[in-house]
Amino acid sequence: MKVATHQLRCTECGTRIAGSAVNSIFRCPECNGLYDVIYPWSLIPPSIPNGDIPASDSKLPNSSALRWLWQERRTSTMPVDQSGVWRFRDLLPIVDNPENVVTLREGNTPLYDLPRCAKAAGIDWLLAKHQGMNPTGSFKDTGMTAALSVAAERKFEWVACASTGNTSAAMAAYAARAGLRSIVFIPEGKIAWGKLSQSMDYGALTLQLKTDFDGCVRILTDLVTRFPIYLLNSVNPYRLEGQKTPAFELLEQLEWQVPEHIIVPGGNLANGAALAKGFTEMHHLGLIPRIPKISIIQAEGANPLYRSLKENDGQELVPVKANTRATAIRIGNPASWRKALRALRTTGGWCEQASEQEIALAKAQIGAEGVGCEPASAVTLAGLKKLVAQGKITREERVVLILTGHTLKDSDYTIAYHRGELFTEAENAEISGSDQALHTSLRKPPVVLEADSDVVLHTLESHMNMKLSQPVITA
Ligand code: F0G
Repeated sequence: MKVATHQLRCTECGTRIAGSAVNSIFRCPECNGLYDVIYPWSLIPPSIPNGDIPASDSKLPNSSALRWLWQERRTSTMPVDQSGVWRFRDLLPIVDNPENVVTLREGNTPLYDLPRCAKAAGIDWLLAKHQGMNPTGSFKDTGMTAALSVAAERKFEWVACASTGNTSAAMAAYAARAGLRSIVFIPEGKIAWGKLSQSMDYGALTLQLKTDFDGCVRILTDLVTRFPIYLLNSVNPYRLEGQKTPAFELLEQLEWQVPEHIIVPGGNLANGAALAKGFTEMHHLGLIPRIPKISIIQAEGANPLYRSLKENDGQELVPVKANTRATAIRIGNPASWRKALRALRTTGGWCEQASEQEIALAKAQIGAEGVGCEPASAVTLAGLKKLVAQGKITREERVVLILTGHTLKDSDYTIAYHRGELFTEAENAEISGSDQALHTSLRKPPVVLEADSDVVLHTLESHMNMKLSQPVITA
């Protein structure tokens, strides 16, 4: 007899179903709620009847054994062990046969310290977990390996997503690895070229719709009810199972010392929820003694969660017409807002917003530490500065920023910033004198010169503030 390793539980009404019984839009037919993946050891709110997958402490995996096993797998040559997602597969048993796992050896991302950004924010200790160092350059790979493996195991031929660019790049790559066919829906003209080029390179059918991200989601949701296409947007709860694993990896990298604060960018609002699930599960299993606060930062021009919290204490989401140069998070009607709200409430974190100038400054500061990230990732540092200024994060608290995308994803943005062409004159006029000075010190536009040594030398002298015209004598 086959034993179910997981179920799906509606986050709104608590109804549980078998994973294979879910409908094509991944929403509860009773109440339209999104699902969480649950396991026999999951911590379920006591008011919810346990159904046919009993949650009992006797089913709890042994935390010391898990730590040892995860460490052991680091030395293995098996693809599932080399994956920074599937190395933790004991806590995401969502595929029946490990041979169905589709992996590009995602995860295993570095943790960098950012001493100069810490100083700029007014704290002593700041780290960045760089999820942009994944195979397709964003954190989406960790979720895509999980959900696409489920699609492959369930024998789907077609997969699809609506995307601001990173999900589509990841989906196209993993679908290609698995030999599945993929369709990408992206808003025309509103995604970074680097991301668009990836979905073409990985062989997806790329449809640029004359609408925004929210419009693409509407069309795709309609299509998946009419054709057997597997939906890979983050309403698919298996995505979040992969996206929770950076929480495990982070704690392993920190030798199980829990930081006080994690900060993530917010777009469709699944990632903060996924990480909160990871930390909550680790806490429940006794791997960590407490859960860090998770804060979510939105761009000011795409801030529906921030606004809803201010206007109605998160009772309802008021969608906005999104507009930000951080195109990855240009989303006005985020699907996972309730899950994100739950993450904020259960961990005690905050939701903040960052202006276009604050994002650009933060991105340049992260770049100047030799780390770099895409604009959407930089909202984390911009938000951190605000939370520190408001006294919500104190100097000695240990903070980890989740950098979600690689700097090369949107090089047009970076070049425009350094050339001083990112903002309009009116926008520049709004920047304070001290921030203007900071921008000036960070901007490094390319210098175009005649191919003449004297001209080059003269220019170097002015940059280095020294005389270089004497021949160099080497010993
Ligand atoms: N950072 C980057 C680089 C992203 O691409 C996204 C989302 C986010 C942050 C926000 O994460 O949606 O879980 O709150 N990008 C999606 C996409 C929407 O289609 O690539 P979220």
